[in-house]
Amino acid sequence: MIAVKNLSYTYMTGTPFEKVALKNISFDVADGEVLAIAGHTGSGKSTLIQLVASLIELTRGTVEIDGLPVSDRSIRRKVGIVFQYPEHQLFEETVERDIAFGPRNFGLSDAEISARVTAAMRQVGLDAGLKDVSPFELSGGQRRRVAIAGILALKPKYLILDEPTAGLDPLAKENLLREIFGDVKKSGVTIILVSHNMEDIARFASRVVVLAHGEILFVGTPRELFAQEKILSRAGLEPPPVTKLLLTLGLNTTALTLDEAEKIILQSFKRDKSIGRR
Ligand SMILES: Nc1ncnc2c1ncn2[C@@H]1O[C@H](COP(=O)(O)OP(=O)(O)O)[C@@H](O)[C@H]1O
Ligand SMILES: [Mg+2]
Repeated sequence: MIAVKNLSYTYMTGTPFEKVALKNISFDVADGEVLAIAGHTGSGKSTLIQLVASLIELTRGTVEIDGLPVSDRSIRRKVGIVFQYPEHQLFEETVERDIAFGPRNFGLSDAEISARVTAAMRQVGLDAGLKDVSPFELSGGQRRRVAIAGILALKPKYLILDEPTAGLDPLAKENLLREIFGDVKKSGVTIILVSHNMEDIARFASRVVVLAHGEILFVGTPRELFAQEKILSRAGLEPPPVTKLLLTLGLNTTALTLDEAEKIILQSFKRDKSIGRR
């Protein structure tokens, strides 16, 4: 479990450029869940996950992972973080070497490294035949998979993804989401998903933390969130199209999928007809 308590963070304290990025943030992440962090650009999402991954030093508040402070060395390997546009950090000559880079730094045996590379490629849907190809010959979506596989090969218990589908075309985006929330999720990893796409959050997240201007506006299920138009608009977020449609029709606002929406709309038609007959 990850426990974040009373976290605050200010960039460039004591300078004219001082910037409060987070104010008194507390929430938990349970083992096995997909927790989304949503919020407008500049709301503090990336700062928050960097603190959780111990990439920037805590100044106020605490982050505990499995009962230990995040600064503890034994915690480092438990948390894998995939930055926005992670493919920009690929640099090795082949896909295999890039994915193996992290595990190699862990000092694992060649056999173990090779097994991890194969498994990680399979998890993100990369064909094993691509091992010896240069990452720079691949499509954007494939390059991103290589970058994500490099983190999965570290076998983190907690996987943090910062806008993993940003900039991908719709098909590549959909395929990547299916892989992350299919094969990767099945491996038992706990996922923190940074996203401002409410539809993705509706589909994949068990709970969502909404940030605005460095503060928590909401923690709860996507369904609870979408019923709260005011919170969404204060956070500068749009409900999923399905939810929006139902709101416009003046119907139940908690449908998350097209199927659910269809049922709600059909029921309301039937109700209207039976009222008409009376
Ligand atoms: N390295 C930095 N130095 C100074 N200010 C920063 C730095 N990184 C982020 N900020 C500021 O902190 C706030 C939160 O940024 P960030 O955590 O990147 O938000 P998000 O990921 O939600 O877009 C923003 O106002 C941003 O300008
Ligand atoms: Mg960010």
